[in-house]
Amino acid sequence: MIALGADHAGFEYKEKIKALLQSMNVPFEDLGTHSLDSTDYPDYAHQVSLAVAAGKAEFGILVCGTGIGMSIVANKHSGIRAANTESVAGAKLARQHNNANILALGARLTPWETAKEIVQAFLATPFEGGRHQRRVDKIHTLTNL
Ligand code: RB5
Repeated sequence: MIALGADHAGFEYKEKIKALLQSMNVPFEDLGTHSLDSTDYPDYAHQVSLAVAAGKAEFGILVCGTGIGMSIVANKHSGIRAANTESVAGAKLARQHNNANILALGARLTPWETAKEIVQAFLATPFEGGRHQRRVDKIHTLTNL
């Protein structure tokens, strides 16, 4: 299951991502926002992050104007590795090397066709493990520093 969240700037992309996931037969939960009315991106980033951190969702996808605010909020959560990227290559590497579990997109910076490819690449690309597992483990280890 994929948890989805967006603010007003990301609302339209979130709706398009829902249609894309439906066409891929990928289940999702829409945690808002549900209109173009102005709202606050942290509200949705927190809800999606909680769903992923709790294991209710395998991945999260967040959309705001830039993806930056969403990723800043998501990365405050324990166990979350959110990647904000504007490229397909970045999405693949975020999965392969960082085992990213949340994708943060910027609707004002990324054309839809690219955003669509980013979502597809993010969901299709496995984590490589190996030396990257050791590094990912260190992301969440704040002792012995
Ligand atoms: C909203 O205007 C905008 O600040 C928000 O969507 C996002 O880009 C923040 O990082």
